[in-house]
Amino acid sequence: MDDNCKVISVINMKGGVGKTTLTKELGYFMSDKKEKKILFIDLNPQSNLTQSFFLNFGLRHSEDLNDQANDTQITEASIQNLFDASVIKDLSLDKVIQSFKTRSGGSFDLIPGTLSTIFLERSSNASNMEKSIYNFIDTHELRKVYDYIFIDCPPTYSVYTVAALLPSDFYLVPVEPGIYSVLGIQMLEKVVSAIKEPNAVFFKEKPLKNLGVVFTRYKDESSYLVDMIIETKKLKEMDIYFFNEHFLNSKKLIDRPDYFISDHDDARLSDSLENIFTEIEERINGL
Ligand SMILES: Nc1ncnc2c1ncn2[C@@H]1O[C@H](COP(=O)(O)OP(=O)(O)OP(=O)(O)O)[C@@H](O)[C@H]1O
Ligand SMILES: [Mg+2]
Repeated sequence: MDDNCKVISVINMKGGVGKTTLTKELGYFMSDKKEKKILFIDLNPQSNLTQSFFLNFGLRHSEDLNDQANDTQITEASIQNLFDASVIKDLSLDKVIQSFKTRSGGSFDLIPGTLSTIFLERSSNASNMEKSIYNFIDTHELRKVYDYIFIDCPPTYSVYTVAALLPSDFYLVPVEPGIYSVLGIQMLEKVVSAIKEPNAVFFKEKPLKNLGVVFTRYKDESSYLVDMIIETKKLKEMDIYFFNEHFLNSKKLIDRPDYFISDHDDARLSDSLENIFTEIEERINGL
């Protein structure tokens, strides 16, 4: 690789653990406060990440139902255009990538999902879809443009999971502390292996590595669960890394897709992001 760009899939086979919230907060923080060039890719057909950015920045797709359409702008950019493209090199970037400015003057880009969840059926060919993100990043040399590309994954195993992992250098695993978390982490490792094996050619130059588990929605009461998970023999044997810093639970984040920590003055949450960011960079340098 002739670049320093890191492609990171944010993934867990369990729903509602904070994948999207952590992705949006971390990426936004890194572009706003750390001057990193960030691209987000929304690979979840539910498109929560996209809705969060659209809501906060007044955007929509023309087909979106919207009762406050007056002050929203229409964007054409969507991942659907990428899935539908027969020749990726002929696809212009503005059909796929939408740019944003953060409140304090930073900028970041997003490949928005679409709410037309029929897109799996509509799309021509699963094998092309699996390779589409990889090919897009490669063809348009996006690794030369960005410092980090974050891919928000769905909680189920599908063609999107494969599409996310093929271009990824790392995957980051948000885990909400719970008694079944150990099983979830083990299951994810199996899914990753099942994707890696038949696609070995994609991982020759950049072996896909587990960046680690970040505990999410962390409360003081969760500490005994976290200790229990970390001490599990099976996970120790698998050499799973657990972030020292946890993504804290906050009432401010519950069902508030329009809330961005970096736009507010909350030292507790900002410090949590800062520390996770530092740990990610240390971890990447160490791997
Ligand atoms: N740190 C946090 N503190 C409080 N609430 C949170 C936090 N992180 C996420 N949530 C809330 O938990 C719920 C699930 O979060 P999120 O949508 O990020 O999970 P997800 O893993 O992306 O879900 P899915 O699997 O459906 O994509 C949302 O209501 C969100 O607001
Ligand atoms: Mg999500």
